Amino acid sequence: MKKIAILLSGRGSNFISIYNSIKKDYINAEISIVISNKKDAPGLNFAKNEGLNTHFADFKNFNSREEYDHSLIKIINDYGADLVCLAGYMRIVTKDFVEAFKDRLINIHPSLLPSFPGLDAQKQAIEYGVKYSGCTVHFVDEKVDHGAIILQSVVKVDDNDTEETLSAKILKEEHKIYPKAVKLFIENKLKIKGRKVFIKD
Ligand code: GRF
Repeated sequence: MKKIAILLSGRGSNFISIYNSIKKDYINAEISIVISNKKDAPGLNFAKNEGLNTHFADFKNFNSREEYDHSLIKIINDYGADLVCLAGYMRIVTKDFVEAFKDRLINIHPSLLPSFPGLDAQKQAIEYGVKYSGCTVHFVDEKVDHGAIILQSVVKVDDNDTEETLSAKILKEEHKIYPKAVKLFIENKLKIKGRKVFIKD
């Protein structure tokens, strides 16, 4: 059985959508470990209640970002991971972390990248006045919200949309494309060539 490690910092709805897809046998894999940098992250509590392996890593106990990420690399490798999913993980991972999980580290971002990387992507989209936004699942490289794109989904931005209403519309799509991308990865259907990801049928 292939293994998936999850890193999160908060609500965890994307993690839960992946977890539910596993329970429904849509994805043939298991969650090996759920890691959070926030002790009280609802996503971490959900994982505990489901009896999954969990780990809270407090950055305060480490001297550098590198030291912190090295501890996570060790934990992830100890539990085993064919795929590492960032799911609302609010820390920028180091180069060493990216290299440790090269081509098997993915993230979801609530905009159509390369538009609106970074924080508050939905707010950026509203303020910019775009007519369409959406979400992106991508491989993670050394730059923030930058790696090769696996899947995207588009939502229409209406005149009366606010950051909140747009976020809700986008989140609905996130919960569709993240499990779909994970399934494609687990079934070995993704081929990366430079910036491009090709999906095999
Ligand atoms: C999502 O909007 C995701 O795209 C972004 O952070 C948010 C996490 O939400 N990276 P959740 O914790 O998965 O509910």
